[in-house]
Amino acid sequence: MSASKPIVAIDGPAGSGKSTIAKLIAKKLGLFYIDTGAMYRALAFKAKKAGITPDNENGMAELAKAIDLDLRYDAQTGKLVVLLEGQDISEEIRKPYITEDVSFIAKIKEVREHMVRLQRRLAEGKRSILEGRDIATVVFPDAYKKFYLDANPAERIKRRYLEMKEKGIPIDEFSVKKDIERRDRIDSTREHAPLRRAHDAVYIDTTDMAIDEVARRIIEEIEKT
Ligand code: DC
Repeated sequence: MSASKPIVAIDGPAGSGKSTIAKLIAKKLGLFYIDTGAMYRALAFKAKKAGITPDNENGMAELAKAIDLDLRYDAQTGKLVVLLEGQDISEEIRKPYITEDVSFIAKIKEVREHMVRLQRRLAEGKRSILEGRDIATVVFPDAYKKFYLDANPAERIKRRYLEMKEKGIPIDEFSVKKDIERRDRIDSTREHAPLRRAHDAVYIDTTDMAIDEVARRIIEEIEKT
């Protein structure tokens, strides 16, 4: 991986395996891992605390502008810690009350502008792997390697449900289905930076693939010159 082009970009819908895969690759290759969805989630958390609703676009933009957010990735343990004003909110932001609001917040143009700026700043000068919805299209259109992960909706719903269950978050499979369908619709039809596959991204359908297999395929591509 070239030192002058040290960015790997992974995009895809919820449940496509982006986070699991990006974390694994970051660990294997010693890259800095940036979960951009966690950043939008942190803003949703901050807004809840401040009593600002997603329809208040100016209020949201102000919050995004002033957000004190940091991501600490420990490549040894493979764990990502999300710090808002120094407080660890890594687990809280995975809860359904945050997931419910986050796609509405991520639609706001000014919010996205602030978040993209922050994402670029976090990655600056580091060999990084970023995952989200607009990494290859907007945040780093000149990334060294770009990937678009996908899986069929039933598989993505199953994965997300099992993940929440494992985290001890009480939710039923029907609610997960509704959430994924709603977010797929909002994230891919919004006006600003909708979820799209970049024309030069490698497309991987992970539906019938094991995690290691996907990671191997991506690492092969990264190591190709
Ligand atoms: O990947 P995730 O489920 O944690 O993302 C939460 C939401 O944030 C997702 O529904 C859309 C939004 N998002 C975005 O708009 N752009 C990104 N780069 C990452 C996430």
